[in-house]
Amino acid sequence: MQRHFHRTLPERLALLLLLVVTRISLAQDNVVHPGKPWLDDRGQPIEAHGGGIIKLKDTYFWFGEDRTQTNDPDKRYVACYSSADLVHWKFRKQVLKMSDPEHLGNWILERPKAFYNAKTKKFVMYLHLDGPGYKLARVAVAVSDRVDGDYIYVRSFRPLDQESRDIGQFIDDDGSAYLIFESRPTKGFFIAKLSDDYMSVEKQVAFVQAPLEGGALVHYKGLYYVVGSHLTGWKANPNVYASAKALGGPWIEFKDIAPPEANTYDSQSSMLIKVAGTQTTTVIYAGDRWTPKTLWDSRYVWMPLEIGGGQIKLPEPKPWTLDIKTGITTVLDPK
Ligand code: GAL
Repeated sequence: MQRHFHRTLPERLALLLLLVVTRISLAQDNVVHPGKPWLDDRGQPIEAHGGGIIKLKDTYFWFGEDRTQTNDPDKRYVACYSSADLVHWKFRKQVLKMSDPEHLGNWILERPKAFYNAKTKKFVMYLHLDGPGYKLARVAVAVSDRVDGDYIYVRSFRPLDQESRDIGQFIDDDGSAYLIFESRPTKGFFIAKLSDDYMSVEKQVAFVQAPLEGGALVHYKGLYYVVGSHLTGWKANPNVYASAKALGGPWIEFKDIAPPEANTYDSQSSMLIKVAGTQTTTVIYAGDRWTPKTLWDSRYVWMPLEIGGGQIKLPEPKPWTLDIKTGITTVLDPK
């Protein structure tokens, strides 16, 4: 009997090899490595900072600021990637390549969010448009017939006549589309419903008196959760969350999503991605780790959240896997 437990050297080597191979294939399979360069199907780092994700049928589309070093410095770019599993991303193209639309000079185009309007069958992209010193504080709207562009600039405006800097996107389970936008003079952020054709911002649903940017929302098990960051520019700070029974509030009560000294593990909120699988529903925190001097090399910090009962906890970033069918996530080496 004992013999079964004593492996010969070749047996042990074979086992070791099997372990290594399993680990490598896992690594190639479905592992997210928060904070590490995230390569697309071409082997190039994903350029989709301050991004937004929409799902069409079974495909996810990730839009974000494309800060590629070789881009024309006079233009601003949005790239689009697609994925079936949220882990492997195929570069579609630079869906927006724009020259200064309003003669602003040193101009800024950030945090693109694309929505699909089922009525008009158009894709409508919202962006934060700004000028020198971030004084313009408007949204820009660009439109396309196809998800992967080209998006054509339409106009810019101040939503609900308010200043609007960082924007966030929320699509509720009933398909309603909302824009979240930070407004400095009112010291808070708005949650606003888009018009029927999504071409304008129609109605204030909530004004949350908390000066937060990088606003991200999710609807999970009967509660709405919002995550936002304090106003420290590119520098990370302790991001906070609140929950509410209805989008209109009341929103209670802002708390840290992680130990404050961790500064959100050196990241800033951008999206909360809900994966409703056959076995569980996972909510992923998707943040940006900005490197302002080398923006093209800014990284992504994505982690499944511990969420429920009005509480959120962002665990310390570790490599993790996602099964897009079941919704199950596994943190590798959780020690
Ligand atoms: C951040 C904001 C970014 C960018 C940056 C500029 O707070 O979230 O999108 O605007 O400030 O300093």
